[in-house]
Amino acid sequence: MNHIVPILKEMLSKPKLQRVPEHMVMDLETQTQDFFNYGLGDTALRAAYLFHAKWASRTFAKCKRVLDLGTGPANQISILAQMNPSIEFVGVDLSDKMLELAKQNCAKLRLKNVTFVQDDMTQLNKLEDGQFDGVFSSVALHHLPNASDVEKTFKSARRVLTEVYSVYITDFLLVKNEQSIQYLLSLNETQPAIFKQDYEASLRASFPKIDFQNAAAKYLDEADLYTSFGAQFLMILKTRSYELDPLAQRFLDSEIEKLSRNTKSIYKSIAALMALHGMF
Ligand SMILES: C[S@@+](CC[C@H](N)C(=O)[O-])C[C@H]1O[C@@H](n2cnc3c(N)ncnc32)[C@H](O)[C@@H]1O
Repeated sequence: MNHIVPILKEMLSKPKLQRVPEHMVMDLETQTQDFFNYGLGDTALRAAYLFHAKWASRTFAKCKRVLDLGTGPANQISILAQMNPSIEFVGVDLSDKMLELAKQNCAKLRLKNVTFVQDDMTQLNKLEDGQFDGVFSSVALHHLPNASDVEKTFKSARRVLTEVYSVYITDFLLVKNEQSIQYLLSLNETQPAIFKQDYEASLRASFPKIDFQNAAAKYLDEADLYTSFGAQFLMILKTRSYELDPLAQRFLDSEIEKLSRNTKSIYKSIAALMALHGMF
């Protein structure tokens, strides 16, 4: 496949796409179960989870208590909890069904360092100020109705954080044109239909980079924003990273080893796209 032409077109074109918001809360029985199963399988989503688990573990190396915004079925946070047994994780979601799956998932893995709170991440009304030294979030913010909700979420996150804090927040970014959406979908042709539909809806619901930059400048200004190189469809907003703990590295290596060749190459592609923007 020719990657150069669609990437150059994305880099050189003016923004033309309008964001198409998704439903905020994921609470349909089939939708939650499909998302959960997909994240556990030998899939692109699993490759992304492992990549973020590595970098988030490096970011949270000095943390004691980390909050996960929009935790879903805890597919991502359960990997982080296994890699960082001395950190206490709290997952927040609005969806009953997601939280039910999250609790089952963590019970099956016998995780003692994860608990859940049903709350709206834009408000975090059930959480007191300054309780966490880390905030995490993965592919959840694009579910918010508009950019002011991203600001509200960052403001609430800052309120529950201690003065010195770590953050690792990742989500898709709105690409500039329709061809880039089609290009990104074509890279995932081998994934099941359910994932492709969800992925397309997520790409279309993503916020443009400027919305994250504005919200971060106001409330999480210790963090730097990294984007995938070329087609900027993925962003990571994070504070400083430290060395990865050797036990966490061993866990990660053994999980990567279980992936098929195709999924390993997706992991390597994500790493390469982010390395080209300074994350290595
Ligand atoms: C695509 S899932 C991502 C789950 C998880 N972070 C992961 O990486 O697998 C997005 C989650 O955000 C939740 N969500 C959306 N809006 C929310 C809000 N305002 N407050 C809390 N959770 C929310 C949804 O219910 C859903 O479980």
